[in-house]
Amino acid sequence: MRLAPSILASDLADLAGALAVCAAGNADLVHVDVMDGHFVPNLSLGIPVVQALHRRTSLPLDVHLMVANPDRLIDDYLEAGAARVAVHQEAAVHLDRLLAQIRRSGAKAGVALNPATPVELLVDVLPSLDYVLLMSVNPGFSGQAFLPRALDKARRLSALIAASGAAVEIEMDGGIDRDNIARVVAAGVDTCVVGSGIFAAPDPVARMSELRDRARPENL
Ligand code: DX5
Ligand code: ZN
Repeated sequence: MRLAPSILASDLADLAGALAVCAAGNADLVHVDVMDGHFVPNLSLGIPVVQALHRRTSLPLDVHLMVANPDRLIDDYLEAGAARVAVHQEAAVHLDRLLAQIRRSGAKAGVALNPATPVELLVDVLPSLDYVLLMSVNPGFSGQAFLPRALDKARRLSALIAASGAAVEIEMDGGIDRDNIARVVAAGVDTCVVGSGIFAAPDPVARMSELRDRARPENL
């Protein structure tokens, strides 16, 4: 299991502190939520913040673009230092072209799916992507309750990936905490995004190691 703390849930006036938590807790990725107030009803971080984070950390930035018309902005995020970029299937008209553009830059290409979007929609694009970001909440805010149906989607997606023979990872995002992380991993998820589960904890670094312990299959 790879752990990707979502810094949206941290104290946004202290992003350097959030990066220090990620490093101390051995985060595999730093999850960065970009929201435009159109695709989702919230505004968060943008290009200058991704650039600033990139200057401050050597951890890979896992950029989750919750924006309308991602084709207009994608190059800026790639140049800003994103190691991975996920665009929403629901926002991308020419998904195949966008994924090729991300891969050409050297970054990993991801597709994010809202809770209402079936994983089967990705069947023709699996060979063109590196990871699928399954939303287990409706995107827009940290701190929402986990939607359990996401587990069934992860299992169905695992089967689709196996049948396709493509090397595609599954990432899950939203409402993951110590109570459900073992079930998330058991459903086939490789990378867990955790926001308030880490940053609202009294000791976020200790919580990261607790999450890793709880993700072990014997703790199901
Ligand atoms: C929601 C974001 C998530 C969120 C996760 O739109 O994509 O990354 O910050 O936060 P938690 O873990 O608190 O649901
Ligand atoms: Zn996210």
